[in-house]
Amino acid sequence: MIPTTDVKRPTINTELPGPNARQVIAEDEKYVTPSYPRPDYKLVADHAEGVWMTDVDGNTFLDCNAGVAVCSTGHCHPEIVEAITRQAKTLIHMCGTDYYYRHMPDLGRKLNEICPIEGDTKTHFANSGAEAVETALKLAMYHTKRQKFISFFGSFHGRTLGALSLTSSKRAQRLGFMRQAIDVTHVPYSYCYRCPFNLGKCDDGTCCMGTVDWIENRLFKTTTPPEEVAGIVIEAVQGEGGYVPMPPEVLKAIREICDRHGIMMIVDEVQSGMGRTGKMFAIEHSGVKPDIMCLAKGIGSGLPIGATVAKSEIMSWHKGAHASTFGGNPVCIAAALKTIELLENGLVDNAREVGDYLKEGLRGLQEKYDCIGDVRGLGMMLGVEFVNEDGSPAVELRDRIEVDCFNRGLIILGCGTSTIRWSPPLILTKENADVALEIFDESIAASI
Ligand SMILES: Cc1ncc(COP(=O)(O)O)c(C=O)c1O
Repeated sequence: MIPTTDVKRPTINTELPGPNARQVIAEDEKYVTPSYPRPDYKLVADHAEGVWMTDVDGNTFLDCNAGVAVCSTGHCHPEIVEAITRQAKTLIHMCGTDYYYRHMPDLGRKLNEICPIEGDTKTHFANSGAEAVETALKLAMYHTKRQKFISFFGSFHGRTLGALSLTSSKRAQRLGFMRQAIDVTHVPYSYCYRCPFNLGKCDDGTCCMGTVDWIENRLFKTTTPPEEVAGIVIEAVQGEGGYVPMPPEVLKAIREICDRHGIMMIVDEVQSGMGRTGKMFAIEHSGVKPDIMCLAKGIGSGLPIGATVAKSEIMSWHKGAHASTFGGNPVCIAAALKTIELLENGLVDNAREVGDYLKEGLRGLQEKYDCIGDVRGLGMMLGVEFVNEDGSPAVELRDRIEVDCFNRGLIILGCGTSTIRWSPPLILTKENADVALEIFDESIAASI
């Protein structure tokens, strides 16, 4: 079921932020950490339904960000709310690290069914994306008895110390923390629009094989012998780095490298997973089967849950090797099981169909505006990169457009250097997409 409401367009009745919002922001500034990477506009959420977000002053926005790709089924989907409520009335917590309850094997079985990993899988449950990545790192080290990792420039895998060692999408994420906790070498990500090897724009991924050459002929022959590498950690579509899909050829070549050298292929689907790209997982667009997958964000429709899914023979560590008090909490799992049911019953298809429609609309705007250099992505994981006349990233313009959209009632968020990401709830309709495109068009016109 896709919730629909009578709301058709955003309504902005106050200045932004409004008087109630300003109070919350002032309190927040006093009592809450300043480290959150909030954008230039200030949204103070009050309640939300479907694709509509209402702030504390009664302004209603069309949400094309979904709490950063989390509310996959839309805000407060009635079936999710019902599943959570039912579960909360019977069992909220019993610590799956020490006791049993049926929810963990139920979700583990479902993930075994849907994750594109060869053979049977086992799952470790956590509370967030970063934790799911930490689990993958520990598991790969444990299984291979190796310590080095390879990750990609532009990647984002979280901010805990292990995950931070992999992360490289923004300077601010690492600044001040200096030495990294684990041994990671970063390699260029195949970013077709801005080829890291200066080979121009090929569009078919062939020049991106430079990334593979870099790993095999530079890293492996110098600083990073393959027999010391535990895992290659990769986003099939880079998220925070700019919504950049990795060409399937490169993913296939990385799979081959991993096979040849006994390295774990770890695919981070925290942002790209759970239907967002028009398939359940982004890696499925390439046909590649990873050894370990990291999931979070969209899997719980807003409840905090992370999962690391691995081949059963890989997840064979000893009792006590890894666990989490809250991970796999029954209420979060109830939300995840219902989320997957809704995804399978139409929302993945909707992400593909309406995502294609939205992309077509964005491509139309690219023809209209020279400042749009690239429109890319899959399903409802779309990036629009803004450029200056000389082709350099138009960072300030992107930021202005982001704020202007908000002032007109459209919530979108930047990523990468000068890209706007579209990551709406997967229930977005074509009618919603038309409204969003209209506002985006007006904002670009007003901001250039
Ligand atoms: C690909 C990817 N991995 C990991 C993370 C970290 O997730 P969390 O913020 O839940 O720790 C994110 C968050 O944006 C992400 O996009």
